[in-house]
Amino acid sequence: MVGCANGHPFNVAKEGYINLLLSHQRKSKNPGDEPAMVMARRRFFDSGAYAPLTAAIAAFPMFGKSGVSVLDCGCGEGHLLGALSEQVEGCFYGIDISKKAVQVAARRHKKATWLVANGMRDIPIADNSMDVILSVLAPRNNSEFSRILKPDGALLIGVPGPNHLIELRQKLQFSSGDFAAKADQAAEKCAPQFIETNREILSFKQTLDREQIADLIQMTPLFYRSGEEAKAAVMQLDELSVTVSFTLITLKPA
Ligand SMILES: C[S@@+](CC[C@H](N)C(=O)[O-])C[C@H]1O[C@@H](n2cnc3c(N)ncnc32)[C@H](O)[C@@H]1O
Repeated sequence: MVGCANGHPFNVAKEGYINLLLSHQRKSKNPGDEPAMVMARRRFFDSGAYAPLTAAIAAFPMFGKSGVSVLDCGCGEGHLLGALSEQVEGCFYGIDISKKAVQVAARRHKKATWLVANGMRDIPIADNSMDVILSVLAPRNNSEFSRILKPDGALLIGVPGPNHLIELRQKLQFSSGDFAAKADQAAEKCAPQFIETNREILSFKQTLDREQIADLIQMTPLFYRSGEEAKAAVMQLDELSVTVSFTLITLKPA
């Protein structure tokens, strides 16, 4: 058992994670990604379809520092932080508001510390303690990130890049979306606490089989926003070649 300064006791779950989410810090009983989404995401990452993304992030120079400390806020089922913790010597903390996500992360990746917590409230990480904060497709908390990050640390955010999944979007009758503008907005929203220092676009083609298509749809907002007919037609495809594109933006404290 662990405790906080206000005297709340918290159990360490059998999987090794700690649930720090108090009832007033959540809007629903089971906030964040629901179990079916988490498991779709887990299967999709396990299939290797986004492996180039994990490899590209792991190759960033900040992970070359010995003893690097990393927070992944909105870590999901933990594939990225888990992979980093296997490859790099350091301290790794994953936070997600979804208990299921943290459970499956903790069950698999033993070299990181996993916490159920609301990343949009007070983040349970000490001041000036992290070299890197990762925020990939997850909500960002500028004021807390700026408190937690060391003065020479880096915030690395990942957002969908140009033409991300355009082939799937077209089949589901979605607009292609102005992803360049969205990346600019994401970087601007990190101000005034953070200043952009680097931007890279990672783009590659991936041929997905039927299971991967179903999991990809289920793990994204496309699942809820698509019409049933278009979704059913896409789920019948034997394969689909898609563009995968991410914009990776590095920022430093202002
Ligand atoms: C699109 S998923 C991305 C997960 C992971 N970063 C990845 O790339 O696979 C967004 C994640 O943010 C989590 N999330 C949403 N709101 C959150 C909050 N307030 N605090 C912490 N995590 C949150 C969700 O539960 C979900 O796991």
